[in-house]
Amino acid sequence: MRIHKPLLALFALGLAAGQVLANDCEVEIAGDDMMKFSKTEITVPSSCEEVKLTLTHSGKLPVNAMGHNWVLAETANWREIAQSGQTAGLEKEYLPDDKGAIIAYTELVGGGESTTITFDLSDLDKSTEYTYFCSFPGHWVQMNGKFIIE
Ligand code: CU
Repeated sequence: MRIHKPLLALFALGLAAGQVLANDCEVEIAGDDMMKFSKTEITVPSSCEEVKLTLTHSGKLPVNAMGHNWVLAETANWREIAQSGQTAGLEKEYLPDDKGAIIAYTELVGGGESTTITFDLSDLDKSTEYTYFCSFPGHWVQMNGKFIIE
């Protein structure tokens, strides 16, 4: 069997160029007892098909006092979601019943806990602005950041 070497090399090169390191599509962020996220900005490559996000609560306070979640929405919508989520109560994890405008969200975690979600990036658009936030009452004011696809 004859293998056409130059073609094979081109094929291997093409694979390497088109591949993204899986690590680039994995994001870690923490929330603490001071009502702060460890990042004010998250950037992921547009070539990621999906993003795996882990939220860790690095503090000690329980979920009902200092719960944190990670909610992603278009920047145009996030404040409205945050405001309607505030009155939803702990059992609904401070999220509105209508989740149509929410792109992705984690469960609420308390001190020492962590949670991981995976969501599709292929549905999102580079030219749209996205914001992530914690929907626990009052937290979203300072617990928010930009989610950038580049
Ligand atoms: Cu929070």
